[in-house]
Amino acid sequence: MKIKLASLFLFIVVMLIGCNNPASNGVQNIVDNVEAQFDYALGEIEKVKTDSLLWPRSVEKGAITMVPSKDWTSGFFPGNLWMLYELTQNDKWKELAMDYTLPLEPEKWNDDNHDIGFKMYCSFGHAIKYSDDPKLKEILIQSAKTLSTRYNPVVGCIRSWNSLTEQWAYPVIIDNMMNLELLMWAAKETGNEGFREIAIKHAQTTMKNHFRDDYSCYHVVGYNPETGAAEKKNTHQGYADDSDWTRGQGWALYGYTMMYRETGMEEFLNQAIHVAQYLINEADIKNGDVPYWDFDAPNIPNEPKDASAAAVISSALFELYQYSKDQEHYDVAKKLLDTMSSDDFFAKTGENGGFLLKHSTGSKPYNSEIDVPLVYADYYFLESLIKYKAMHKI
Ligand code: GLY
Repeated sequence: MKIKLASLFLFIVVMLIGCNNPASNGVQNIVDNVEAQFDYALGEIEKVKTDSLLWPRSVEKGAITMVPSKDWTSGFFPGNLWMLYELTQNDKWKELAMDYTLPLEPEKWNDDNHDIGFKMYCSFGHAIKYSDDPKLKEILIQSAKTLSTRYNPVVGCIRSWNSLTEQWAYPVIIDNMMNLELLMWAAKETGNEGFREIAIKHAQTTMKNHFRDDYSCYHVVGYNPETGAAEKKNTHQGYADDSDWTRGQGWALYGYTMMYRETGMEEFLNQAIHVAQYLINEADIKNGDVPYWDFDAPNIPNEPKDASAAAVISSALFELYQYSKDQEHYDVAKKLLDTMSSDDFFAKTGENGGFLLKHSTGSKPYNSEIDVPLVYADYYFLESLIKYKAMHKI
C-alpha cells in the first residue's frame, strides 16, 4: 500500500511538473517545432533572398520581407539560428548561423545610428561562443569602436539617430540601452575602460532623464548637444508622448537588468526592479498575457498586440529573478513564456512565413508591421526559452 501511495504521489508530481512546462508542451517539443519551422523558413528564404537582401524581418501581404545588412533587425535571424544551435547542438544550425552572420561584417563601420549593437552583438556576439576565429572578435571590437563615436560627453549619451533633425537635435531613445551590451563586452575583451565608462554614463543619464515617477519611460529624449540639457520628451513609436509604448518599457527592463549583470552596480539593479514592478502593475503583464502595443492605446481591447514586447519582458524577467530572487519576477516571466508558446501565438509549422511567433507590432503610428511576425520577437522568445531551460537544468 505504501509503495502504491508513493507511486501515485510521484505520478502526480511528474504530471504537475509536466504541466508547468511552457504551454504544457515541454521544452523539447517546442525545440522540435522550432527546428521544423526554421527548416521551412530557410526554404522560403531561398526563394526570395538576393545577395544584398539576405535577412528575413517580417511578413507583408503574405510575402517575407527581406532586409539589407544596414537594417536594425539584420542580426536577429543569425542570432535565432545560433540559439537553435545552442538548443540542439546540431552542427547544421551552426553552419547556417555562420552563413547568415559573416555577411554582416561591413556593418562594423556603419556609424549612421545606434543600431550597430543590435546588428552585431545579436549575431557575432553568439558566434564568438562557438568559434575561435579571432576575426570574429575583431569585427565586434571594431563595432564597439564605431558605436563609441556616437557618444557626446556633454550629453552623457550615445546619439540614437542622425535623422529627424527637425524634431530633435540629439535624439536618444530608450532602445539604445540594449546596445550597451556590445560596449560592456568590448571593455572586458580589450581592457579598454573607455567602452565601459561610456556604457555606464549612458545608462545613468538615461536613468535621470527618460523615466517618469512611476518608472515608466518616454521613448525619445531630445538633448541639447551643446549644453547637455534634456529639452524634449516625446514618443516616436508609441501612442502619445505621455503614453507607455510597450516594447520601450521592455527595452528599459532588459537594459538595466543587463547593465547590473555587467557592472554589479546596485543603482542599475534597483532601476530594473522598479521598472519590473511598474510592468507587473499592468494587468496584462501580471496575468502573463501578451500586452497591447502601447499600454495606453486608446481602443483597448481593439488594439493590436505586441508579442515582441512580451518576449523582451519575459527574457529580462527570467534574468532579473536570478538577481532579485523575487518569485513574482520568475512567475510572470514563465506565464509570458507559456502564453507565447500557446497556439494563440506560436505558429504552426509551415505557416507565418516561417517565423515562430504571431501578433507583433513594429510601429503602429507609422502604420507599419501591425499584427505580424517579427524576427526580433522570435529572438527574445528563444532567449527566454533558453534561460528557462538553463534555470531548470533541462
Ligand atoms: N528599436 C526599434 C524598435 O524597437 O522598434
